[in-house]
Formats: sequence, C-alpha cells, structure tokens
Amino acid sequence: MRLFVDSANLEEIRTAASWGILSGVTTNPTLLAKEDPTVDIRQRLKEIHAIVGGHISIEVVSTDTAGMLREAEEIVSWLPEAVIKIPMTPEGMAAVRELARQGIPTNVTLVFSPAQALIAANAGARFISVFLGRLDDIGADGLQVLGTVCEIWERQGLEAEIIAASLRHPMHLVEAARLGADIATAPFRVLQQAMKHPLTESGLHSFLADYHRLQEAQARARQVPLVL
Ligand code: E4P
Repeated sequence: MRLFVDSANLEEIRTAASWGILSGVTTNPTLLAKEDPTVDIRQRLKEIHAIVGGHISIEVVSTDTAGMLREAEEIVSWLPEAVIKIPMTPEGMAAVRELARQGIPTNVTLVFSPAQALIAANAGARFISVFLGRLDDIGADGLQVLGTVCEIWERQGLEAEIIAASLRHPMHLVEAARLGADIATAPFRVLQQAMKHPLTESGLHSFLADYHRLQEAQARARQVPLVL
C-alpha cells in the first residue's frame, strides 16, 4: 500500500517528503483554505508537486459537468501530471467518463459506500477515495465499507485504485493495508503518529545512554597509566 499525504501545507509536505515515504499528495478545497490566502493557489500546487513528485490530486469546485471539464482542462494546462479530483455525483460521473475518454486520470472523492465505488469504477475513475473517518464520525464503520469495496474489487478484478481517505489515526492505515487498499492518504499528524512507538523512543534513549557510558569508560581506561 502506497502512502500519500493529505495536506496543502508546504512545511508538512516538505517534512513528510524528506522522510522518503511519500508516493503522492491529495488536496481538497478545505485543506487549501487553511493556508495563506495571499499565496496563489496554482503556485502552491505546483510547488507541492515539485516537492513530492508522483501523484497529485487537485479537486474541482464546479458542480456541473461542463464546469468540471473546463476546470480539469485548465488544471492540466499548467500541471499535466495532475489527477483531477471529482465528487461522487451524477454530474461528476459524466465528467469522469469524458476525462477518461480524453486520457485524463480522475480520483472520485466523497465515496462512502460500496455502491458509490462501483458506480465510479464504471464511469472510468482511475482512483476512488473511500472516506473512513467521516463515516466513523457519524457512528458508521468506515473500515467495514472499505473492506466490502476491497472484497468486490478482488472478486471482480476491477482496475481503479482504491485510496483509503479521511484517516484519523494509524490503525486506519494498518487496517486499510490489511483489507487491501492500494493507497492510503493520511494527514501529516497521522503519518507522524504511525512512525512513533514508546518502545522505539525508550530503546533509542537507552542505546544512546549506554554508548555514552561506553565512551566514558574507554576514555577513563586510556588515562590509566600502565604499571609494569
Ligand atoms: C481525500 O482525498 C480527502 O482530502 C480527505 O481524506 C478528507 O478527509 P477529512 O475527513 O479529514 O477532511
């Protein structure tokens, strides 16, 4: 399972990219709205892509098919590698079909059920983002939905790649991998948490302390004059 970061924050993206674990980035209008409004959005997205390389999903904000297609055309004119993120609506599916015909990859977003995932696959989506955390937030079971999607994909041999999205904690990552998601897109905080374990921290602390003790002992040993 590949890892994307779900962020539009340059500092977070730079840091996560420096760890060498990223295969891409997903953004959405909410993530972009959290950032400095004086920075040109196009510039920011180009910079993000320059940092991470690989996949970058950029979401349209039109709600009609023609508007989505116009936006997609505009986005690929300045970032040809962009994957166009399209909402799971009838208008969105028509846009996905047309973009697939033009060879432009899409990521269908806001998918909350296996039925929606199947619809998106039939429209020709290259990626489908199944939201886990937002389902959990309303008392549903995001991982159960993802599990059903992955089971259907396996049984039917479907090609669209499944992205586990809207992650809230490292267990979402682990379970998404166990269930068979192709990709997980995680907030920076979840990636940070996933890397940590208290036993790693205490283990490292004691290894370093022991090494310093060893160095001190060796220094002392070198100072002791040899008595013949
Ligand atoms: C997916 O691509 C979305 O950007 C994202 O995962 C949304 O997650 P949220 O529920 O944390 O907003």
